Amino acid sequence: MCGIIGYIGKKQALPVLVKGLRRLEYRGYDSAGVAILGESEKGKVERVRSVGKIDNLAEKLKGQDISGTIGIAHTRWATHGGVTEDNAHPHFGCDGKLVLVHNGIIENYREIKEKLGDKHTYKSETDTEILAHLIESHYKGDLREAIEHALSHVRGTDGLVAMHADHPNCLIAARLGSPLVVGVGEDEYYIASDATPMLTYTKKVIYLEDGEVAEISKEKMETFNLKDEAITKCVEEIEWNDEQAEKQGYDHFMLKEIFDQPTVFEDAIRGRYNLEEGAAHLGGLNMTTDEMRSVKRVILIACGTASYAAMVGKYAFERLAGIPTEVDVASEFRYRDPIVDEHTLVFGISQSGETADTIAALREAKRKGAFVRGIVNVVGSTIARETDGGSYIHAGPELAVASTKAYTNMIAIMTLYALQFGRLKRITPATGQRLLKALREIPAKMNEILDQSDEIKKIAEKYKDYKNMFFLGRGINFPVALEGSIKLKEISYIHSEAYPGGEMKHGPIALLSEDFPVIGIMTKDQLYDKMRSNIEEIRARKAPLLLIATQGDEGAKELTDDVIYVPDTMELLEPLLNTIPLQIFAYHIAVMLGRDVDRPRNLAKSVTVE
Ligand code: G6P
Repeated sequence: MCGIIGYIGKKQALPVLVKGLRRLEYRGYDSAGVAILGESEKGKVERVRSVGKIDNLAEKLKGQDISGTIGIAHTRWATHGGVTEDNAHPHFGCDGKLVLVHNGIIENYREIKEKLGDKHTYKSETDTEILAHLIESHYKGDLREAIEHALSHVRGTDGLVAMHADHPNCLIAARLGSPLVVGVGEDEYYIASDATPMLTYTKKVIYLEDGEVAEISKEKMETFNLKDEAITKCVEEIEWNDEQAEKQGYDHFMLKEIFDQPTVFEDAIRGRYNLEEGAAHLGGLNMTTDEMRSVKRVILIACGTASYAAMVGKYAFERLAGIPTEVDVASEFRYRDPIVDEHTLVFGISQSGETADTIAALREAKRKGAFVRGIVNVVGSTIARETDGGSYIHAGPELAVASTKAYTNMIAIMTLYALQFGRLKRITPATGQRLLKALREIPAKMNEILDQSDEIKKIAEKYKDYKNMFFLGRGINFPVALEGSIKLKEISYIHSEAYPGGEMKHGPIALLSEDFPVIGIMTKDQLYDKMRSNIEEIRARKAPLLLIATQGDEGAKELTDDVIYVPDTMELLEPLLNTIPLQIFAYHIAVMLGRDVDRPRNLAKSVTVE
C-alpha cells in the first residue's frame, strides 16, 4: 500500500524524506518519488521519481543539488495505471507549482476529468494527477481553501499532502479515509501515512481524523474540518519502537492483518457496485455482454487459502449466476488434461499473483481457449499481467505468511463477479440490492467479532495443548472449516483436519475422544438443524467442543460452554464473518505456544516453484 512522508522545518528535507521512504518500504511499493520546494529559486519545485526500489531513486538523486527545507515523498503501490515513472507520485497540476502525494482511490476520477475539460493536460494514467488538476482549478491564492473545495467534489478515500511554489512555508494535509499522522518536532513537522518514518526524530504525534485538513508551517499547525471550522487537536506520545510502528502497535503482522479486514474489505468493494440497480460492475472483467452470456462453466483455480476462498466463490457463482462452477487446485488442474473450451471462464485466484502452479494452470487454460481472468492482490504480478483482465482485491500488502485479509477480499470480489453475471441471467434488482446491503454491513460486523479477541484468547488457552483437532462445517461453511484448519496447522503446528459435518460418521468419528476436540461452525443457515445433529453425535463421544454460532442462538450454549458468537448475515456471506474467529483462535494458540507466527517453519509466502 502506498506510503507518504512530508517534512517542513529547519533541516534539509531531502535526506529526511529519502530515509523516511526507506522506513516505509515494508508497506510494499513499486515506485517512489520526492518533490522539494527549492529555496534558491522562488517558485521552483524539484521533482525526482523512479520505478523500483528506493535505491534506484537514491541513485538518481546522487549528484543533484536539490536543497530546500520543505518536501513531500511517496512510495506507490499501483492501482490506477501501470508501474511507470510517469505514474509515480508526486504529481503536478498544469503550471508545475502545485504538487501532491496521495494515498487512496478516487472513485469518480473519470467524471472529474470530464468536468475539468481539455484545458488540462495529463502526463500519467493516475487518479491522483486528476486530483492535482482539480485542486489547481479551485486555487485562487489560498491552497487550503482550494483543497477543501476540491475534496467536496471527490468520492473515494484520500490521504494527501500538498505544497505550492507560491507558499514557501506551508504544507497542507488532508485525510478522508486514508490515515495520516503528524509528527511534532522543534519548529518542524513530519507528516506521514503511519508513524514509522518519523520515530527517529520525534515520539510526539497528532493523528488526523477523517474530514480534517491541516495547514502546517515551520512554526505551527492548524487543523480544520471540511466546513473550514478550526479544530483543537491533542498531541499524543507514542511508545512504539520502529518495528512496533510497522505493525501499527500489533505484536505480529498477522494480527494487524486480521484487524485490517474491515477496512480493506471496504477498499475491495468500493466503487464496484450500484446499489440502486442491485448490480456489480467490475470493469476489469473485460468481456462483452454477449461473451458473458456465452459462459457455460466457471473454473476457479488457486492454491492453499486462495483455493478455500474459491470454494466459497463456487457457491456464489452457482447460486447467483446459475453457472456450474468448479474449484480446482492449480497443481492438479495443470496435469489432468482438463476439459476447457471457449465457453469456459477461468479465474486464477492468488494473493501474490506469482504462485507457480496457478500461473501454469492459467497458461494451460488459455492454450485451450478459455476466457482467463485474474483475481489478484499484488499489482503488476505475473498473473495480473498474463491474464486478459480481472480485478485486484485491494487488500494491501499481506506480510504474514498465513493469509487472512487476502482471503476475505478474494471472497468479496468473487461475490461481486457472481452478482455481475447473475444480474445478466436470473437475479432481480431487489435480490441484488439485498445482497449489496448485506455486503456493506460486513465491515461493521467484522469489527464486532474483532472486539471479542480477548475472549477468544481465553478459549484458545483451553485448547492450546491438544495434539489434534477437527474442524467441522457444512455447505458454505465447509470451506470455512478448511480455512480454520489450515490456519491452525500453518502457525501452531497442531495437527488438524477439516470435514463436512455429514462425513463425520463415515470414518473420522472413530478418532474422537476426550483428547480430540472439535471446532464446529454451526451458524443459522439452511443446514443448521443437520449440523446440530452432527454436533450432538460429537457430544456423545465426549470430545471437547468449540462452536461458532449466530448471536442469539442460546441453544448453542446448551451444547458446550465454549461458544463464539458471530453476527447474523446472508448465508452466502457467512464465510466472511465465520472465518475471523478461527483466524484469531489459531493466532492466539500459536502465540501461546511460542511459534514464529509471521514466519512459520517450512512455509513461504509466495511459492514460485512447482
Ligand atoms: C502459500 C502461502 C499460502 C497461500 C498459497 C497461495 O502456500 O503460504 O498462504 O494461500 O501459497 O498463494 P497465493 O499467493 O497464490 O494466494
